[in-house]
Amino acid sequence: KIIVLDFGSQYNQLITRRVREFGIYSELLSHKISAAEIKEIAPKGIIFSGGPNSVYDEDAFRIDPEIFELGIPILGICYGMQLMAYCMPGGKVENANNKEYGKAVIEVTDPEATLFKGLPTEQTVWMSHGDLVTEVPDGFTSVATSVNCPISAIQNLDKKFYGLQFHTEVRNTEFGDDILRRFAFDVCEAESNWSMEDFIDLQIAKIRETVGDKKVLLGLSGGVDSSVVGVLLHKAIGDQLTSIFVDHGLLRKNEADQVMEMLGGKFGLNIIKVDAQERFLGKLEGISDPETKRKTIGNEFIRVFDDEATKLKGIDFLAQGTLYTDVIESGTETAQTIKSHHNVGGLPDDMQFSLIEPLRTLFKDEVRELGEKMGMSDELVWRQPFPGPGLGIRVLGEITEEKLTIVRDSDLILREEIKKAGLDREIWQYFTVLPGIKSVGVMGDGRTYDYTVGIRGVTSIDGMTADFARIPWDVLQNISVRIVNEVAHVNRIVYDITSKPPSTIEWE
Ligand code: XMP
Repeated sequence: KIIVLDFGSQYNQLITRRVREFGIYSELLSHKISAAEIKEIAPKGIIFSGGPNSVYDEDAFRIDPEIFELGIPILGICYGMQLMAYCMPGGKVENANNKEYGKAVIEVTDPEATLFKGLPTEQTVWMSHGDLVTEVPDGFTSVATSVNCPISAIQNLDKKFYGLQFHTEVRNTEFGDDILRRFAFDVCEAESNWSMEDFIDLQIAKIRETVGDKKVLLGLSGGVDSSVVGVLLHKAIGDQLTSIFVDHGLLRKNEADQVMEMLGGKFGLNIIKVDAQERFLGKLEGISDPETKRKTIGNEFIRVFDDEATKLKGIDFLAQGTLYTDVIESGTETAQTIKSHHNVGGLPDDMQFSLIEPLRTLFKDEVRELGEKMGMSDELVWRQPFPGPGLGIRVLGEITEEKLTIVRDSDLILREEIKKAGLDREIWQYFTVLPGIKSVGVMGDGRTYDYTVGIRGVTSIDGMTADFARIPWDVLQNISVRIVNEVAHVNRIVYDITSKPPSTIEWE
């Protein structure tokens, strides 16, 4: 196994997941782990994740220096590399003049370098850092360089220590997997003997053990995540599972009926549908701050559940389709909060259930794979992701019925046109947002002063990073013409051309 030490990067679980993809068991552990504890675990290799700190920060995450004496190969990524350089004699880390976020090109200066052997000398990588290593520690050599980061990769062959300033785990790094593979197989000599299929059996066994003969309630949103959890739990505990589908009035057009048909009908899940539109809209009245909105929706969601559970009697567990992306972006012990996702951040303190979150360590594409392995239809597994707070975070600022209708109707048009153009699989997520801006237009002979609708389309593998989708102009034109003509109070369409980072996929 290869362990990853967590220094708080948004991407740290992604590293373990890449290693698991190689068939090597990997888990994320706290950076506070001692050298003695690591010795006990006896991993084939250690990876230091990235992190938001600067090594010079007073409260920067440090490690037990004895870890460097264990004789186990170490790969430091981003902050991990800086920490390594900082801890080793002769190494120097400084604040970068040009902070770097996004794509960069590195040149491998030593073609024999272990991690780059056989790969092109020029590579596109994903950088995200404010500091950089300016002097290599004793015994190390610099093996790659880039314009903004002269020392992009270092190695110490004797100690088997390696450092990379860029993020191999992110798909935007062209040869990320190859580089990680070289570390895992060539340096650590780890064996490939773990499979993702083990996950289903492992989880089913775990769910049965945890639940016993008790009852579980599931919050079904109709999205891929909760649907997969539903099917997984149904497999594990059958009728001990009751699912509740809350129509919070923030769903897409026709969504509620579709969910009931597919999961209730086809898969035989026992689903209770709750119509709570008014309850949610009432609570959201006058609220325009995105975080408050998310928390309000999250809290109300749990309360609706609480009410239903009380009616049902004897429910002990609440299952949720929380993904790793939700966990990490809501802030963990080490990671900073980006947005509080409703599955995690909104939970009230007086909650009466224990949580079951079987997808907590997985990414979206892994969840899809899991769904497919359990025999779920493409229709269910390939639904585009939809956030728990729903259209509530796509109407920016205060939510009103009128604004929701605009988003709902324009979203339907967008979805129809994308499907018609055959792009629905290619684009990871596509939706409309209502920024709440009004601008002047002309329709017929008259002046209009109406809303602007934003189109967001992104390609992504796991939602952690994303690029804006290159939707063809003619498709965009059809969408634009249709929305302006068919949706009342819209006179302008804009297209979001930012990637993540620096933006996020959703606008709130
Ligand atoms: P962001 O906007 O953070 O979104 O780049 C990443 C992915 O997560 C979805 N998302 C959510 N999913 N609860 C969820 O279950 C949430 O509160 C939430 N917020 C964002 C988003 O649609 C995208 O796929």
